[in-house]
Amino acid sequence: MAAPNIDTIVSLAKRRGFVFPSSEVYGGLGSAWDYGPLGVELCNNVKQSWWRWLVYERDDIEGVDSSIILNRTVWKYSGHEATFHDPLVDCRECKNRMRADKLEGYFPAEGKDAVFNANERLRAGLVKCSECGSTNLTDERHFNMMLRTTLGAASAEDDPTALAYLRPETAQGIFINFLNVQNTMRRKLPFGIAQVGKSFRNEITPGNFILRTREFEQMEMEYFVRPDAEHFKLVDEWVESYMEWFVELGLDRNNLKLHEVPEKELAHYSKRTVDIMYRYFPERAEEERQWEELMGIAYRTDFDLRSHSSKAIDDEGKRINPDSTEDLSYFDEANKQRFYPHVIEPAAGVNRTVLALLLEAYSEKTNDKGETRVILKLSPQIAPIKAAILPLAKNKPEIVGMAKAVKRSLQPVLRAVYDDTGGIGKLYARQDEIGTPFCITVDHQSLEDEAVTVRDRDTWEQERIKVVDLAEHLQKRLKP
Ligand code: GAP
Repeated sequence: MAAPNIDTIVSLAKRRGFVFPSSEVYGGLGSAWDYGPLGVELCNNVKQSWWRWLVYERDDIEGVDSSIILNRTVWKYSGHEATFHDPLVDCRECKNRMRADKLEGYFPAEGKDAVFNANERLRAGLVKCSECGSTNLTDERHFNMMLRTTLGAASAEDDPTALAYLRPETAQGIFINFLNVQNTMRRKLPFGIAQVGKSFRNEITPGNFILRTREFEQMEMEYFVRPDAEHFKLVDEWVESYMEWFVELGLDRNNLKLHEVPEKELAHYSKRTVDIMYRYFPERAEEERQWEELMGIAYRTDFDLRSHSSKAIDDEGKRINPDSTEDLSYFDEANKQRFYPHVIEPAAGVNRTVLALLLEAYSEKTNDKGETRVILKLSPQIAPIKAAILPLAKNKPEIVGMAKAVKRSLQPVLRAVYDDTGGIGKLYARQDEIGTPFCITVDHQSLEDEAVTVRDRDTWEQERIKVVDLAEHLQKRLKP
């Protein structure tokens, strides 16, 4: 079973130290969340799994970690200053403020009588408020979603030369470093560059817990290929690879589906995008409304490298970018050709992945006494804590000493904790609820036979293991 809804996870996450509402001591900050002791471990495990899978296990991908604040000119030539905006409308009846492109009727219907101008459609009453259903909506205004800041101690707030943005995607930090990475690592096409880190967007309607926030984390990879590669086929191949990765992390394939983004909804840089959707809202009656984007795989053509290049020209022979000092083209030695590589971009969100994994892992089980317990069946590779060491008698110094020694012996190879703050039933329940795959109890018998009891989170089965064999035993069972 999975969680019935996101609210169940919000409550568990707060109660057990995964995610807290941010700035709570000052009344909170809308749609901002802080990751607690277990949340940060879970996020780190997801990011490490992703990094291992792409950067370590493949031979064609390098990693980078670029600045969050880049030269403002990057965002001019990436197209974000001019086009990274959402259409905003207000409902005159219920005063709700919304993203117009998410509303029923916003995109023109097919057919020769279709009204193509969005404001004409709004005025003709073809678009409905998502809150009250009224068609009495304002015209749309364009709202740039990049978060602004100013640089330099002496900068006045309205000084345009001091204006900078917090990056809305990690991708641009990869494109502007394309030549640095290619030259220093002596790479030949095809190869990829991966980056994980924070991005920021001034979302009009953030919400649904960590699904849509203004500050979030992305795991992006730009895969550079020749202009004559089979780009659409490569998109399909990366889609399939990511589907397998998500399933290996713990998502059920039945809760994943693909969405081919229609041409009119494609981002300014994309020729094709396939979104992997997750069933974040299983409680919604209409199947269509149960899904939201988990990640997207886009064919970005040579748009970005060309836009940032000093020598690239447009159809009229004019330089596209008079500000750049570098030409981000690639020389193919084998074919003696120079060109701008094309890009396939799988772009995933850390927070959306974590939310999907929590929803999926949630389950309930009833014990012999009829009590219902929550069990978080996270895959062992991403569980925040791998083993909890529990002494059966906390007033017996020899048992406590041995339990602490077992914890210390495991710590170099896996994340282990020691806990003696309750009766054994309560301690087991606590670990089940946070997804710890193994509870290890030290009892009187352990002092005699140098063995401990290992209890499995999912089956509640127990087995006796010698302390000397414990680390190896657990490591074997933790392998994906
Ligand atoms: N570089 C391409 C790009 O940024 P995107 O579809 O806008 O593409 C990629 O973002 C992923 O980042 C999304 O699929 C989602 O997982 C995550 N993401 C985007 N906006 C987000 C937000 N406001 N809150 C949480 N995650 C977000």
